Amino acid sequence: MPTNEAAVLDALRPIIDPDFGKSIVDLGFVKNVRIDGGSVAFDIELTTPACPVKEEFERAARDRVSALAEVDEVEVRMTANTRGRASTQASDVLPGVRNTIAVASGKGGVGKSTTAINLALALQRSGATVGVMDADVYGPSLPLLTGVHGRPRAEDKRIYPHESGGLKLMSMGFFLTDDSPVIWRGPMVHGLVRQFLTEVVWGELDYLIVDMPPGTGDAALTLTQMAPLSGAVIVTTANDLSLIDARKGLAMFDKVQVPVLGIVENMSYFTPPELPDKKYYLFGEGGGKRTAEEIGVDFLGEVPIDPRVVESGDKGRPIVVDDPESPTAAAFVDIAGRVARKLAVLAEGTPPIADANITWVS
Ligand SMILES: Nc1ncnc2c1ncn2[C@@H]1O[C@H](COP(=O)(O)OP(=O)(O)OP(=O)(O)O)[C@@H](O)[C@H]1O
Ligand SMILES: [Mg+2]
Repeated sequence: MPTNEAAVLDALRPIIDPDFGKSIVDLGFVKNVRIDGGSVAFDIELTTPACPVKEEFERAARDRVSALAEVDEVEVRMTANTRGRASTQASDVLPGVRNTIAVASGKGGVGKSTTAINLALALQRSGATVGVMDADVYGPSLPLLTGVHGRPRAEDKRIYPHESGGLKLMSMGFFLTDDSPVIWRGPMVHGLVRQFLTEVVWGELDYLIVDMPPGTGDAALTLTQMAPLSGAVIVTTANDLSLIDARKGLAMFDKVQVPVLGIVENMSYFTPPELPDKKYYLFGEGGGKRTAEEIGVDFLGEVPIDPRVVESGDKGRPIVVDDPESPTAAAFVDIAGRVARKLAVLAEGTPPIADANITWVS
């Protein structure tokens, strides 16, 4: 006797999503179960394509259904329907953008732009549609980091973002000529930020990463107040001063009730190429993690000091695409997965289970 849908769902029910703490069947992730004799096919629809346990889900699902007596062929298709604001939500501010993630820091030079572009590329690599908005009007770095330059097309009060490998890009840097001095007064900054939020044709995006202006000045405040931010990622380095600044950055988001998704500690340690198992913590170990604990936010991960970050940034190919196998790229991919998971859970209104290990209940 061939198997039936109920038997397939029963076989899949013990697979628990660690973020939601529930069965993938009860969460409604299993879709389109098709049975043709001994062949079974189904989809598993995740809440984000950047789900770090995608492969584990796929393997467990295949193994469990294959183990059914009457089944000799299993096809699992992994899909995603990124959670976030409803994409149809009527709004003139970033319509069509499901999740807007601010990447911020209390002080400059800690690797905010580097983190923003690499997170964007990591999310895109997972299959998500992603845009990057460089809102750092005083020191835009997206043109340099991506190698994309030139004025974007503008028509009828609409500005079309540049596109590079499918990634949508917008930066004040695209409008500047080399020698124009950048002197912005408060109202100009306000107007510019508004234009970026309302006139740029982003289209449908799963994630828009916003490289925030440094600190907590005018431009940063305008953005936190005007943009429908889904969450903020705070970048810091390990030394004490930047940790204090990180706290200031956090306070700014708290004020406008934007959830802080967590802290990234950049330039945490150095691994010499000839000693790939060593981690030298030049500024002391665990500062970012301790600060995160003290403030009660998640610690998203450590990114090593890596000269290739500078080189790859300078040649317009960030490390996640330039050397995807490197530990530094892996750190960004890991952080992107955590961010995506947290956003998915926030969007569902379910409290996250902190760093739960996947438990396969058998
Ligand atoms: N993990 C890393 N390893 C080595 N160098 C890094 C790393 N992260 C960033 N850098 C380098 O540090 C410098 C500052 O980084 P970045 O521009 O991303 O910082 P920022 O916080 O955006 O700075 P700003 O405040 O000027 O906008 C850059 O030259 C960048 O290449
Ligand atoms: Mg920057």
